[in-house]
Amino acid sequence: MPAATDTGLRAFVRALPKVELHVHLVGSASVETVLELARRHPEAGVPAERADLEEFFTFRDFDHFLKVYWAVQSMLTDRHDIHTLVTGLAADLAAQNARYAEVTVTPYNHLLDGMPGDELLEGLATGRAEAAARHGVDLAWCFDIPGEKGVRAGRETLVFALRERPDGLVSFGLGGPEIGVGRAQFAPFFTAAREAGLRSVPHAGETSGPATIWSAVHDLGAERIGHGTSCASDPRLLDHLAAHGIALEVCPTSNVRTRQVESVAAHPIRRMLDHGLVVTLNTDDPPMFGATLNGEYLAVAGTLGLRYAEIAQLAGNAVRASFLGDGRKAELLAEIDQTLAGEREK
Ligand code: ADE
Ligand code: ZN
Repeated sequence: MPAATDTGLRAFVRALPKVELHVHLVGSASVETVLELARRHPEAGVPAERADLEEFFTFRDFDHFLKVYWAVQSMLTDRHDIHTLVTGLAADLAAQNARYAEVTVTPYNHLLDGMPGDELLEGLATGRAEAAARHGVDLAWCFDIPGEKGVRAGRETLVFALRERPDGLVSFGLGGPEIGVGRAQFAPFFTAAREAGLRSVPHAGETSGPATIWSAVHDLGAERIGHGTSCASDPRLLDHLAAHGIALEVCPTSNVRTRQVESVAAHPIRRMLDHGLVVTLNTDDPPMFGATLNGEYLAVAGTLGLRYAEIAQLAGNAVRASFLGDGRKAELLAEIDQTLAGEREK
């Protein structure tokens, strides 16, 4: 196999079939969609000019990021808005050669902002159908609790998820701030969700230390961890995550842009990989962070000097850690193997 040239690396990453396990629906709104919404909703305080929006998407810290995120969320009012976001995300995923994504939706926030539940569900359903038919991208949903809104949000999210149980709903999550928002208070809702067959995928260790990740594992039965960045400072936790195959949904550019890490080079991803963790690469809130899925692979591969086989391993990790059925996983893994074999023959 020849040494990876920049062009070769780009072509390889592009050719790999990929899955995305950590992307928020609101945070996936394209710049064009946000500008269009901002023109219709001046009261939201979101800039309607491109240069101003770029500035608006420059985050001082994580709390500032969340305020901006909530401002964008507040502009979504009906099924058409949700449909636009879902199909826009599918088009963006297709452009990255991503075949499947588990998309985080926060029903409680939309309901609180005044969107009827039926509007949300209808937009998700029609958007998901169009994503598959027009873009060849399969979408699944993670309904998550906005942690800052406490146990009431936990209960309501659970009730909504289990009552509505829309097609494609596979998992139950927990997002928002971590500091001052203990994971354990949400344990009863995660227990009930898991008993009903939903998988547990809380955010943890993005903006707080390893104790939050331990709590996500012990109290919430986490099967994957959203971010998990701070695990690298706890050798016992690294051992535990590796031994139990609990995958990390790593979002390097997100962590840089919310100022949780200095740079991709300073990200603990190397320690995670060296420790044998199941690392997956994801975008979180792509247009807000100027991120793309291929860009995340390229940034990590370039920074860590990964070989093609190691890059393919990362793509395979995401397939294996997904909640796809075994048959579809096997197809995607075979395609990844073929892509790598094609590279070896060059
Ligand atoms: N909601 C949207 N993006 C988020 C993130 N990166 N962490 C927690 N909650 C979020
Ligand atoms: Zn997230």
